Amino acid sequence: KRPIIIDTDPGIDDAIAIAIALFSEELDVRLITTVAGNVGLENVTNNTLKLLAFWQKDVPVAKGAARPLVLPLIDAANVHGLSGMDGYDFPSPAKHNLLSIHAVEAIYQELVSSKEKITLVPIAPLTNIALLLRMHPDAVEYIEEIVLMGGSTTRGNKGVMSEFNIATDPEAAKIVFDCGLPIVMVGLDVGWKALVYREDSDKIMQMGATGEMMVSLFQKYRSGTFNTGLKMYDPCVMAYLLQPEMFEVIPGVVDIELDGKMTKGMTIVDFRGYLGDRPKNARVCVDIDGQMFRQWLLASIAACL
Ligand code: BDR
Ligand code: CA
Repeated sequence: KRPIIIDTDPGIDDAIAIAIALFSEELDVRLITTVAGNVGLENVTNNTLKLLAFWQKDVPVAKGAARPLVLPLIDAANVHGLSGMDGYDFPSPAKHNLLSIHAVEAIYQELVSSKEKITLVPIAPLTNIALLLRMHPDAVEYIEEIVLMGGSTTRGNKGVMSEFNIATDPEAAKIVFDCGLPIVMVGLDVGWKALVYREDSDKIMQMGATGEMMVSLFQKYRSGTFNTGLKMYDPCVMAYLLQPEMFEVIPGVVDIELDGKMTKGMTIVDFRGYLGDRPKNARVCVDIDGQMFRQWLLASIAACL
């Protein structure tokens, strides 16, 4: 099993991604860390613990940064609901899974005590990962790679040109993209094609308690834009880890715009050497087979038992 640490802000699509990872035969979720993003830190942490209670899974959880490094937090409660996971009546949070140390320390301890290198899977603003890199620079020695949901080679979903996870904490994203580790950027180029439709939700509804829970969340996600499909951004990183054949990936130079008046938080993705001979620092997912994703998603949710 491939050891991973998920850094997350549940978040409806985060919840689906976490489910798939926890029930996967190929992934070993060693730790889940939380960060302010879709909603505030208390809510995203509670949501993570509620998910664990729902599945009766015990995975350690550690609470991380309550706000981005420099910017104030502007959340996405308009997309995910005020709680971040509106639409389902969850059991009480499984508080016994909550560690008493900060996410950064929890990640570091897990990294240094692991026999194998660990893959970091951030599906939220990159604040915790940036803090880790600054507080424990030797952490890079223990990380296999970073497979993250964030960015776009085209337009944005938070700003005209910026994606939510990067735009929420651009300074943190800059630290992460500059860290020298292998990075896979799973961004909007694929997230916009990773859709679940109403017909799928009828099938998911039949998939036991997890299916019913997910469909209840879907009904609150973006408050009902089901018609054109719901975007499964965060599950794309699990798809990449488990079935990379469905992606087209191009190595490139990725930098983060920090000064732009209208483009702050934009990922500048250079495939053609415009930025000089800087080393390519990320493998960028530029396309996905949407049909394959849809089948994979349904099969993966069906396996969440
Ligand atoms: C990202 O933003 C969040 O709202 C989602 O959970 C996902 O991680 C998509 O831009
Ligand atoms: Ca997320």
